[in-house]
Amino acid sequence: MNAKWLVLLVAALFAIVPAAMAAEKRCKAAGEKVECPTQTKESLEKALANFDKEAQDMLKGAGGSTYGIAPFDYLTGVGKRTSKANTETFKVESGYSKGTGKTEMWDRVKKPASGEQIYNQWANNWSPSFKTSLVPGANPNEGKQWYYVYCVGCHGWLLHGDGPNAAYLDPYPRKLTAGAEYMNKKTNVELFTVIKGGGAAVELSDAMPAWGNLVQDQDIWNIIAWIRANADVKPITSVADYLNPKSSFDPKSAANAVTPLNAAQNAEFKEAQEMLEASLAGRGGDLKGAGFVAGGLRKTAEEEAKAMK
Ligand code: HEC
Repeated sequence: MNAKWLVLLVAALFAIVPAAMAAEKRCKAAGEKVECPTQTKESLEKALANFDKEAQDMLKGAGGSTYGIAPFDYLTGVGKRTSKANTETFKVESGYSKGTGKTEMWDRVKKPASGEQIYNQWANNWSPSFKTSLVPGANPNEGKQWYYVYCVGCHGWLLHGDGPNAAYLDPYPRKLTAGAEYMNKKTNVELFTVIKGGGAAVELSDAMPAWGNLVQDQDIWNIIAWIRANADVKPITSVADYLNPKSSFDPKSAANAVTPLNAAQNAEFKEAQEMLEASLAGRGGDLKGAGFVAGGLRKTAEEEAKAMK
């Protein structure tokens, strides 16, 4: 290669780097490029340090953990003190006894009756139990449980984009609570597509994994209902807020007319489904394609719609 070409090549490389380093404008809301609603590097490093500290405290028996199973409602502290029998079982201090030495382990509000309910019981004590859904045919309380299984590590405890993995990701995960600014401008079909097929399915980064091999379609809808219910919610100050936090999401907008109750008839949704189904492989167990697959506590969209009323 002669020297002239080498100079041009090196110049071209330098031209690319500043473009990649420019302020991140790759988020799109309603077709417009917008600044991505993410945390700062500093806030993510702080969140990670806090997570590490909680984990260390838990190992030493010196505190509770937000990301471990916190046996009380994180937002409100709603719960009751554990019975003596349980105090014997759980010798770990939750860290909320403020040095009094008293055991501060909190019990669940209701006693679970059977195995599957135990799982629900934990989840429903973690954060709000919504009485209504902003996505007809989907249940935010069910979605919340999947969120805390699969999404919390990156998207954060309260959907603020500050999970313990977030600091390591490029780009940083968004604040899924940034409603008016960002998330409310995305349609239900867009959210379904990015969750089922991952970032790559909507021209975002594959740092956002595809969940279609692990999570049922109905549960993806349930997660969407949970995300919608969290749009711009203010910190909770009363039990009423707690049971039905006020979201800025407007389910009546035409863009969100596609719901699990009518998605099967929607051309845009069907097209997205075909694309996603073609790209997914390696599904385990009963996950055999689009649509509803019965199992566990899962209800059909029609049943969810009835239950949420
Ligand atoms: C490994 C980390 C990681 C996990 C786990 C993860 N996400 Fe993401 N997610 C990301 C990142 C990073 C982005 C941003 C991708 C981009 O904009 O290029 C993203 C983007 C998204 C978006 C698109 C909105 C937007 O523009 O940010 C949604 C919706 C979303 N994630 C939901 C979920 C849900 C629901 C789960 C759990 C089922 C989940 N994510 C699990 C990292 C993750």
